[in-house]
Amino acid sequence: MIDLRSDTITRPTPAMRQAMATAEVGDDVLGEDPTVNLLQEMTASLLGKEAGLFVPSGTMANQVAIKTHIRPGDEIIVDSNAHIFYYECAATAVISGGQFRCLRGEHGILSAREIESVVRPADIHQPPTRLVCLENSHNRGGGSVYPVASLDEIGAVARRHDLRVHLDGARLFNAALATGTTVGELARHADSVGICLSKGLGAPVGSVLCGSQAFIDEARRFRKMLGGGMRQVGILAAAGIHALRHHVERLVEDHDNARRLARGLARMPGVRLDPERVVTNIVIFDVAETGLGAHQVVELLARAGVLVIAFGPTAVRAVTHLDVSAIDIDRALEIMARCFAAATCAAS
Ligand SMILES: Cc1ncc(COP(=O)(O)O)c(C=O)c1O
Repeated sequence: MIDLRSDTITRPTPAMRQAMATAEVGDDVLGEDPTVNLLQEMTASLLGKEAGLFVPSGTMANQVAIKTHIRPGDEIIVDSNAHIFYYECAATAVISGGQFRCLRGEHGILSAREIESVVRPADIHQPPTRLVCLENSHNRGGGSVYPVASLDEIGAVARRHDLRVHLDGARLFNAALATGTTVGELARHADSVGICLSKGLGAPVGSVLCGSQAFIDEARRFRKMLGGGMRQVGILAAAGIHALRHHVERLVEDHDNARRLARGLARMPGVRLDPERVVTNIVIFDVAETGLGAHQVVELLARAGVLVIAFGPTAVRAVTHLDVSAIDIDRALEIMARCFAAATCAAS
């Protein structure tokens, strides 16, 4: 099986397991786990923030951040395909009492102009606009990334209207490599930023939320409230430290493999995508012209040995990661070509 469903499916490498097995630990709810403290410091320093907080998941990083930034009744500007809006079980409504103002970004990428156009005026009838949430790279946008200049413009709008900015950086390291910059630069205008260790970086679990010391002190209380306070969790933080030390630069291989996959797919009958748009590790393609729906394609490919996921009625997503090689991608392309040729023949 060549598993391209997500970059979350990777297994810890032997070296990562070794780092986990030998990690120094303590009670992290008491702030006494040295390995967690090191991971938090390392991540905060990479992102140019004062402090970090280890949390179990990207969803918790986002929701703790939102809870810390807003009060019930506040409005949050977000892209309509953002993970925070699309995939987090309405957690913001349940946990924070926030209301979303959804925009349709260009492949998930919002512009400063669009954001500014929906900022509410001070008016007793309207919810106050408090927060802007950005996602970089953008999952449902096909791994799209924010140009640094756009982030600068969004930062200026946020300052002009006294808005906070939260960055869902589940795949921020992918975005930095694709943009030719650092994660610190991409996080410069964000008041809070969450990065995932369990996606492209290949750790089994964990995210780190970063921001000012005051923000993180408050976020720590909400992490506890939501049941995210963990004890001798240095064994997991050690995997994260190993990932930050050894798995960041290699993400370019995932990007190369994604481009290889995209170029191959674009040549197949009935498959539509623009390979030029694939800049990180996510490939979304449309299969309408094969005569099949996305779920049928998922089943057909799975029977032939390639796992992908449906991302809409005719949209399919494939993601490259640590556990797939260029050779796997070539094998996947052979299998896909056979399947799509058979499907389009049958449809015509
Ligand atoms: C952009 C983005 N943000 C947040 C998350 C949530 O991460 P988790 O599955 O660790 O909750 C994901 C998961 O795929 C994601 O793609």
